[in-house]
Amino acid sequence: MMTPFAHRLAAWQARHGRNHLPWQGNDPYRVWLSEIMLQQTQVATVLQYYPRFLARFPDVESLAAAADDDVLALWSGLGYYSRARNLHHAARQVMDEYGGQFPRDRAGLETLKGVGRSTAAAIAVFAFGQKEAILDGNVKRLLARHAGIYGTPDQPATLAALWAEAEARLPDDAATLRRYTQGLMDLGNGICTRTRPRCGECPVAADCYAYRHDATAALPEKRAKKPNPERHTVMLLARCGDRLHLYRRPDRGIWRGLWSLPEYDSVAAAETAAQTLGAITARATLPAITHKFTHYTLHIAPFAVTIAAPARAADWLPQQEALAKGLPAPVRRLIDDHFR
Ligand code: ADE
Repeated sequence: MMTPFAHRLAAWQARHGRNHLPWQGNDPYRVWLSEIMLQQTQVATVLQYYPRFLARFPDVESLAAAADDDVLALWSGLGYYSRARNLHHAARQVMDEYGGQFPRDRAGLETLKGVGRSTAAAIAVFAFGQKEAILDGNVKRLLARHAGIYGTPDQPATLAALWAEAEARLPDDAATLRRYTQGLMDLGNGICTRTRPRCGECPVAADCYAYRHDATAALPEKRAKKPNPERHTVMLLARCGDRLHLYRRPDRGIWRGLWSLPEYDSVAAAETAAQTLGAITARATLPAITHKFTHYTLHIAPFAVTIAAPARAADWLPQQEALAKGLPAPVRRLIDDHFR
């Protein structure tokens, strides 16, 4: 039995949805990789990283065998680096625990590091045609509106109601399931947007609770937001000829394992540290840049110095080598802006 909702959505997807994305197909490795990249990153950005990553690691075996640093380097710029570390770990799980074959059902897929219920469901649908429901942020919004589910989606009762809706609406056959699931993603992304949804183009507006009650702005309910703290740091951009001063961050805390610029609480502290690198021949305080994390906003004031005679050769990396490392996006931006 196909619900009218699934029928209209799948028909709409065939005509108006995205049907030429490079990860569309049934190879579990390619599907899994795309779903992890798409967890916190927009399609347009993922399209720039996905082919490069696949070219370097074409299958789960090559990824499992890679060095940590190489995986992070290819992830560099996508952000949320725990995804890359989990991805690498999961590739090893597939090799070591599953004999190189991805598990074919949601429960098995959920044992992989970094794969939660909704991601596991998406892989189970796209790669294996299993009847499973996805529920990412976009789908929560869409279902809260269509079904008229009040309460904030982070409350257990609200979440349970959303999962129940997601399950109840699934079509049965594998071909329609794939289209329907992609349709949910396409509708949530392009039509049922957070602000100013395009209800005039929506295939399921006729029986949408929020549309009929003029409640798209009220649903889903938002939880009271705590203010995002602001933090400030000074980054030292030291150059010596064509070499840059970078260090590898420790294996804990923010940007762990990535290469970065040293940070200080003040320009004076950065200046003192710079003096230990060698003789300073030029210095400049550059305009600050802002980087948003989930839990705070970081303001970075770059302090640039030129060093003439380096005290220790080990402190320095040739620029080409530095740019090939896994660098946090704002650090790459600073280097691009000031060292080229
Ligand atoms: N977001 C998460 N998964 C996606 C997919 N398969 N296609 C488009 N956007 C997505």
